[in-house]
Amino acid sequence: MNNGAEPFDLASLIVAHDDGNAFDAVVPPIVQTSLFTFPNYDEMVASYRGEKVRPIYTRGLNPTVRAFEEMLAKLEGGEDALGFASGMSAISSTVLSFVEPGDRIVAVRHVYPDAYRLFGTLLKRMRVEVTYVDGRDEEQVAKALPGAKLFYMESPTSWVMDAHDVGALAALAKRHGVVTVIDNSWASPVFQQPLSLGVDLVLHSASKYLGGHSDVVAGVVTGSKEIIGRIRAEAYPYLGGKLSPFDAWLLVRGMRTLPIRMKAHEASALAIAKRLQDLDVVEKVCHPALANRLPAGLNGTSGLFSFVFREGVDVRRFTDHLKLFKLGVSWGGHESLIVPAEVVLQQKAQPNSAHAFGIDARSVRLHVGLEGTGALWNDLEAAIAVSQS
Ligand SMILES: Cc1ncc(COP(=O)(O)O)c(C=O)c1O
Repeated sequence: MNNGAEPFDLASLIVAHDDGNAFDAVVPPIVQTSLFTFPNYDEMVASYRGEKVRPIYTRGLNPTVRAFEEMLAKLEGGEDALGFASGMSAISSTVLSFVEPGDRIVAVRHVYPDAYRLFGTLLKRMRVEVTYVDGRDEEQVAKALPGAKLFYMESPTSWVMDAHDVGALAALAKRHGVVTVIDNSWASPVFQQPLSLGVDLVLHSASKYLGGHSDVVAGVVTGSKEIIGRIRAEAYPYLGGKLSPFDAWLLVRGMRTLPIRMKAHEASALAIAKRLQDLDVVEKVCHPALANRLPAGLNGTSGLFSFVFREGVDVRRFTDHLKLFKLGVSWGGHESLIVPAEVVLQQKAQPNSAHAFGIDARSVRLHVGLEGTGALWNDLEAAIAVSQS
């Protein structure tokens, strides 16, 4: 694990995996196949016995997906990684690998809404209980941990931006023998490397910053060989939410520019957050770098934050006047996006709870893309000017 000036091994972004069949190509080939044939009976037997590791069927092992998994493991300081067809597939496969009926999970409040819904529907039906805690309150976390199987974290949380001392929480969980997992999509390995802070498993919606170009839906989990082995043995093959070779190839391409993109998102978003904070029409800006000092282990901030308008601003007029910030969910790509809370709270999916997600009805969430701070600020300023009633 490298905690020095460079947060990770940059060289790993330049040369990807070469399994001997890629002519030392600087870009790994897309091995777009469902199956791999064997030259003879003995080779097939050796593979089935596990004496020789080679791809048999893409749901189990595919070289392009493996290139992505190895690259991500390296960035996060993990020994192994598994790629999934979505962030939710990574979350569900990971959680289901560590709980059984009657178990309890501790989760920080305001986790990503579909993770909250997974806990409140499928897991509830499996008789897995979830205790929500304020991750900023270590006493509350310590009280909830005894007897739990899994501690599910997300830091910062992706709407209200609660940022936690991840290392301190991981140490608490370790004391109680509770496996820890964190959704690190917001910070990316550029700004937070939770394995080095003592967390057992790190997962991502790779649809966000890892991909970075809004052209792929994917997920990934990384950790030690042993703990990833638990997921690899059952949930990975049997739930079958495997990442596709083409999507893995897009991720490898996207990740090469991850550090540069993250620094650009950080600079633009922070400049805009600070300017919003000075406006009379804005009640509050939720951005981890404005709240306090960043917690230990969080070495930077990304492009996603939210703010709350005061009464008297017409949010519909505001959003419809924007030219660069497009109305759209997700985040982590090159483009700037805006989501009004009052729209999200009309979603039919259940459970749907402003309180559970920590969303103020007058808030909007911004993803600050790579269009440039000046142009983006002008866009926001012009829209605010026409939206006061
Ligand atoms: C913080 C966070 N985690 C996980 C997910 C789920 O990822 P995916 O959409 O790739 O399934 C999302 C998606 O928006 C997210 O914002």
